[in-house]
Amino acid sequence: MGVLSTLLVPMGPCYEELMKLGGPALCAIGFVAFVVLSVVINVLQQLLFKDPTKPPVVFHYFPFFGSTVVYGMDPYKFFSDCQEKYGEVFTFVMLGRKMTAALGPKGNDFVFNGKLSEVSAEDAYAHLTVPVFGEGVVYDVPNHVLMEQKKFMKFGLTTENFRSYVPLIVGQVEDYIKKSKFFKGAKGSVPLSEIIPELTIFTAARTLQGKEIRDALDGSFAKLYHHLDSGFTPMNFLFPWFPFPQNRRRDHAQRTMAQFYMEKINKRRANEKDDDGQERSDMMWNLMNRSYKDGRKVPDKEVAHMMIALLMAGQHTSMATITWMLLHVAAQPKLVARILEEQKRVFGDELAPLSYEKLVLECTFLGHIIRETLRMHPPLHSILRKVKSPMHVNETNWVIPKGHYLLAAPGVSSMDQKYFKEPNSFDPNRWEGRKAEEETEKFDFGFGLISKGAASPYLPFGAGRHRCIGEQFANVQLMTIMATFVRKFEMQRPGGGNDVPAPDYSSMIALPTPPSIIEWVKRDP
Ligand code: HEM
Repeated sequence: MGVLSTLLVPMGPCYEELMKLGGPALCAIGFVAFVVLSVVINVLQQLLFKDPTKPPVVFHYFPFFGSTVVYGMDPYKFFSDCQEKYGEVFTFVMLGRKMTAALGPKGNDFVFNGKLSEVSAEDAYAHLTVPVFGEGVVYDVPNHVLMEQKKFMKFGLTTENFRSYVPLIVGQVEDYIKKSKFFKGAKGSVPLSEIIPELTIFTAARTLQGKEIRDALDGSFAKLYHHLDSGFTPMNFLFPWFPFPQNRRRDHAQRTMAQFYMEKINKRRANEKDDDGQERSDMMWNLMNRSYKDGRKVPDKEVAHMMIALLMAGQHTSMATITWMLLHVAAQPKLVARILEEQKRVFGDELAPLSYEKLVLECTFLGHIIRETLRMHPPLHSILRKVKSPMHVNETNWVIPKGHYLLAAPGVSSMDQKYFKEPNSFDPNRWEGRKAEEETEKFDFGFGLISKGAASPYLPFGAGRHRCIGEQFANVQLMTIMATFVRKFEMQRPGGGNDVPAPDYSSMIALPTPPSIIEWVKRDP
């Protein structure tokens, strides 16, 4: 009331009139006055007190909220508008957080190759991921432990395993198509937003997690998975402390799923051979038999939590990519015909069963379709780090203070005509003879050699110490699903349209707006 009356007293006689209106009206007026005042102060501060030692701040009216809404509605439009106005490095306010975006190949390098003493991924992501994956893994441990855990996971992603995954994925897709209500008859249409999430989780579970987990997804495990998945929302990222009802379900699902994995681990310890009497070689077995550098065996709980992390890390990214891929080829049926042509060239006119080596090494056009999809639609539009100590931006006088979030968006450079001609057209041929990754010096952060340079306009799998370890698996999964679809169906967009749906940014991932329909005709009804 004190501040309020100071504001109202200069209004003279109006003040008495207002007092008659009573408490609620006064509160409303006070609130409006407070908002107006804070907007005025915020605007004046931005206009009059520009700090030359820090990157430019994106102009915004409302303190605290800043650019939250424009960024959230279409991050790429926001980034390219800001890039035009402020250059490659700028800071924007998102719900009280200061986010400094570093765009372009140099920006990618700046974020991805930030020193461990300067940036932290765990400080940026832990509150979102720890309740979902569980304790003791990924962002709940110091970076050097994560590097070891990534190495363990990578040991389970061997060529030999990939070889066995191809027929398993084909089996899952064929079985799904046979049973799905959307594929009855000789032709029809299917909403990809309904089938692809299931197909992705079934194929990933059958390969990376084993038969028991895949079978469980037909029962109670499916509900648990959905509850866990609902913990992966922007709301949980922005308000990790808020007691949303879905958080209780998420926590229960996490505990129950971890228990489920631990029971499987115990059973396996009792019986080291699989049901067919063969030596086990799958991911769970691989993780169960690893030890940290200090000699500590990976505890069962951490094995269980890593299995959950693997399931979740690949699900949204692969699901978004396969959906966009199917939409783009359906929008240009000549691409479907070319993929089939390649299948026949590599596997023969009778289309012999898919095999890992031929698929990955010889089906180059299909590989280009995946690259082009990831160029236009990298699933993660914003990659974050928290700044731990002040960071100088090369070739400027700017220092990014401790406490800011750093943001890389490689999707901006991969859609920039400076690096890719006609960036808005889906053209897999542009990859003919062009490498996806720059040939640079290799470096081992602890989980195998990877290209050190991150100054590339195309980095859908990230770079540096947090680079994706699931790329090869994703390739096998995406190529196998796509090849199986093309072998089975002719595809087009409804009515033969050549459009694809607009991206929907309401989840953490850039997904096409549902229902994302394609029409299909069976080649062999
Ligand atoms: C990290 C993209 C599939 C597991 C990353 C990062 C990106 C990415 C951009 C770096 C994140 C950062 O720097 O903050 C993708 C895309 C995929 C895909 C586009 C599919 C098309 C997968 C799959 C798995 C997986 C299938 C598991 C089998 C991981 C893991 C990390 C990672 C464990 C490391 C996180 C870290 O070190 O901080 N992925 N991913 N990803 N991804 Fe993937």
